[in-house]
Amino acid sequence: MTASSSPELPAPRAPGRGARYSIAFVCLGNICRSPIAEAVLSRKLERAGLDQSVAVRSAGTGDWHVGDPMDRRAAAILVEHGYDPTRHRAAQFDAAWFDQHDLVLAMDQANLRDLQGLARTESERERVVLFRAFDPVVEESLDVPDPWYGGDDGFQTVLSIVERTGDALVDALAAYLPGDRDDALG
Ligand code: 4NP
Repeated sequence: MTASSSPELPAPRAPGRGARYSIAFVCLGNICRSPIAEAVLSRKLERAGLDQSVAVRSAGTGDWHVGDPMDRRAAAILVEHGYDPTRHRAAQFDAAWFDQHDLVLAMDQANLRDLQGLARTESERERVVLFRAFDPVVEESLDVPDPWYGGDDGFQTVLSIVERTGDALVDALAAYLPGDRDDALG
């Protein structure tokens, strides 16, 4: 089954020239799912010519892995598919991230609830969206399943979900944001 449409993107906090639309991907530990999403989206945006218009980062709601590199299984699946996992260091999301990001994408429903709990205003709360709300394939759960406790298969599943959802997210961003061409004319 395929979804009919992507959710609306929150308006940029600082509309105008120069400011990039800023997205944070957030999971629990920031060593598996959200850094995979950051690496994949970073390349997709570059290929779509949107890397000057959109910035991506990632964080975890938990603090256990702050400063750590990616989980070695997450790094391995990224390398296998041509991405560079080496520069990642885990960070923890706190409310100040809302000051710097237009869209906060939760990798699962527990992340979504935790992030909504950190929002200080209704406007911040509305900027928190489930990543898989953009997934064109509708499944029973809208979670990117946590691969931490499972086997290597789980990481392949995460990458597949992130690849197809990332394509839909880039399409939504391309339709929503003024391109570099419009800026040049502007
Ligand atoms: P992530 O996976 O949220 O996708 O980075 C996890 C990583 C570590 C833990 C849980 C999930 N942990 O409990 O340490």
